[in-house]
Amino acid sequence: MTQPSQSTSRPLAIVTGASAGIGYELARLCASNGFDLIVAADESLTEAAAIFGALGAAVETVEADLATIEGVDTLVAHLGGRPVDALLANAGHGLGHAFLDQEFREIQHVVDTNITGTIYLIHAIGRRMRARGAGRILITGSIAGFMPGTFQAVYNGTKAFINSFSFALRNELKDSGVTVTCLMPGPTETEFFQRADLMDTKVGQQDKDDPADVARDGFDAMMNGSGDVVSGWKNKLQSAVANVTPAGVLAAQHRKMAEPGSGDEK
Ligand SMILES: NC(=O)c1ccc[n+]([C@@H]2O[C@H](COP(=O)([O-])OP(=O)(O)OC[C@H]3O[C@@H](n4cnc5c(N)ncnc54)[C@H](OP(=O)(O)O)[C@@H]3O)[C@@H](O)[C@H]2O)c1
Repeated sequence: MTQPSQSTSRPLAIVTGASAGIGYELARLCASNGFDLIVAADESLTEAAAIFGALGAAVETVEADLATIEGVDTLVAHLGGRPVDALLANAGHGLGHAFLDQEFREIQHVVDTNITGTIYLIHAIGRRMRARGAGRILITGSIAGFMPGTFQAVYNGTKAFINSFSFALRNELKDSGVTVTCLMPGPTETEFFQRADLMDTKVGQQDKDDPADVARDGFDAMMNGSGDVVSGWKNKLQSAVANVTPAGVLAAQHRKMAEPGSGDEK
């Protein structure tokens, strides 16, 4: 963890899950678009922070497990009283395999990271933004939130929560000067699938979107104050179809993509 730095005239963004994948690209975009950064992740951010710093940002790092209240408190305490211009609540992870074959403590970590820690952080920072009458919140949901996730049941459920929550919070804040944007990526080439033990599945092995493109869509939508963005035309189509498809059919389709052993390389 780095020490809080002297305040600069640049706006300040907090990016969670900035050590890898979509969050790393979001933090890069913030840095190259004039933001200073507080970046957070579970493990070392030293390498990523050097790259964001080279883009001109003053960068502070917080290493904390954002699945825990203490971890989120550590991040908020590090911030101190400084105003936050943008909160990019992106940290999250998946968990493959059948629900009853998963370890419950791992299930709980998915819920605690993707839901509890995420909304606890948004609650703390959102209140300050509302009091100031300004701020941008970008939340990484997923198109997974539109379909029951057979063999990733809890993860998809957390993203259904996040997608829904994001639209509701946006409406509650509509006259406050604070915008809320939900980034809903489809399958994206990050460490997500490895970490979720999905590498022997069809979705784990298929071609995926570039995290830099996904992050660009999210960053632009946040800066425009849009409500949501589904990244990529295939995912736009898939989410539109999901809206009019019975849940049982979607659950069966998800089995084909996420069942252990459904990929070619076993
Ligand atoms: N990849 C996809 O296909 C996809 C699709 C839709 C939505 N998403 C969402 O996009 C977001 C980013 O995922 P990604 O694909 O970029 O995955 P990733 O490459 O695995 O990166 C995840 C990031 O989140 C951090 N993180 C995870 N759990 C954390 C915790 N408990 N406390 C602190 N940091 C934590 C990781 O930090 P450490 O490295 O320190 O663990 C890492 O920086 C997630 O919310 C995910 O659900 C991903």
